[in-house]
Amino acid sequence: MTGDEIVRLCRRHTLFEWSVQTSIDPIPIARADGIYFWTPEGQRFLDFNSQLMSVNIGHGDPRVVEAIAAQAQLLAGAAPSMATEPRARLGAKLAEITPGDIEVFFFTNGGAEANENAMRIARVVTGRHKILARYRSYHGGTAGALTATGDPRRWASEPGIPGIVHVLDPYHGVARGWESSEEALARLEEIIELEGPHTIAAFILETVTGTNGILIPPDGYLAGVRALCDKHGILLIADEVMAGFGRTGAWFAVDHWHVVPDLLTMAKGLTSAYVPLGAVGMRREIADHFERRPFPGGLTYSSHPVACAAALAAIRVLEEDNLVEHARRMGTVMAECHADLARHPSVGAVRNIGLFGAIELVRDRATREPMAPFNGTAPEMAALNAFFRREGLYTVVRWNYFFTNPPLCITEPQLREACAIIDRGLDITDRAVR
Ligand SMILES: Cc1ncc(COP(=O)(O)O)c(C=O)c1O
Repeated sequence: MTGDEIVRLCRRHTLFEWSVQTSIDPIPIARADGIYFWTPEGQRFLDFNSQLMSVNIGHGDPRVVEAIAAQAQLLAGAAPSMATEPRARLGAKLAEITPGDIEVFFFTNGGAEANENAMRIARVVTGRHKILARYRSYHGGTAGALTATGDPRRWASEPGIPGIVHVLDPYHGVARGWESSEEALARLEEIIELEGPHTIAAFILETVTGTNGILIPPDGYLAGVRALCDKHGILLIADEVMAGFGRTGAWFAVDHWHVVPDLLTMAKGLTSAYVPLGAVGMRREIADHFERRPFPGGLTYSSHPVACAAALAAIRVLEEDNLVEHARRMGTVMAECHADLARHPSVGAVRNIGLFGAIELVRDRATREPMAPFNGTAPEMAALNAFFRREGLYTVVRWNYFFTNPPLCITEPQLREACAIIDRGLDITDRAVR
């Protein structure tokens, strides 16, 4: 099929996520390799968002493709009540690479279900019902995960599930910036007191916030959250669906701050999106709760053998190619490129940790008014998006910012090539600056 035919039929018979259907303009994608993908007509794109921050190892790695094919030939499906070798091996492997004594895993189809199960486990284990979550967050598109989500994707599904309480983040947008860890923690503790600590089962947070702007917590924040949770018997759920598997230059983002959460959710980089798989990992003590009581969750495709085999192979690629370390080194190059791009008058803030980055744009240097309002668009952001597309750079432009999240296998020249395109694109937004 031609690209136009694919787009026409997809639009006629399928729905695209979170969008007014007439406002979208999907890219037809036919094949992919490494950091690039191609349309059926052969237009090449440098994938500067790893699709949805998910193809961590890069596209089309034969080691993963072959593992999927081999497992499909041997045993393509199994009931979740069966014990399979890929499930056994993946559980053991994840116990090895996740922090502290997180060593038991429940497998899901993706990130939302991982968070859904994490929140339910926290409620069952603590006997409490409230869940704290942050406003600048996304936790998935199912009922509980979407209620925990703080960003506007929640609004259409409200009132959602009972018992979720939102708290403010240390970050308050490009105009107001960051508050200190101490201020953020004092505010959090006040909310915990006001809500009643004995009613709160868990605090769920993205260790490094993803779609809401790559928000890297100030030093001391996560350790402070851990201490507050310990003080009040609240479980800490780290949502590492986007930040995990080397994205930040560590296996998991919590590793940067040496914090061990009680539950850790993952998806995306777990299989590098070659097939769908998510998981919630838990500390031994939490898993022990279910030794003599039923575990209250299940899914037909939980622990799917093909997905587990894909995850094992994708993790092996991260290890064999030393991609976690490589992401850390390339993160330094990205920080350099970002710092250089910051000379543009429209650049209001740049952030990255490893290959997890974002650039925020402003239209006024003095007031730092964002180039597009919260949850809104602006013609300049649309023009920048169109420029990237014309130049063959794929990334997501959202509100007043855009992402810099390539596959972890990107080389330094490729990274500089992408930054050179961004450099030229920013001339468009510079023209709007007062
Ligand atoms: C931090 C975070 N949590 C959860 C999810 C939901 O994952 P999924 O779309 O696999 O359900 C996402 C998806 O983007 C995410 O970024």
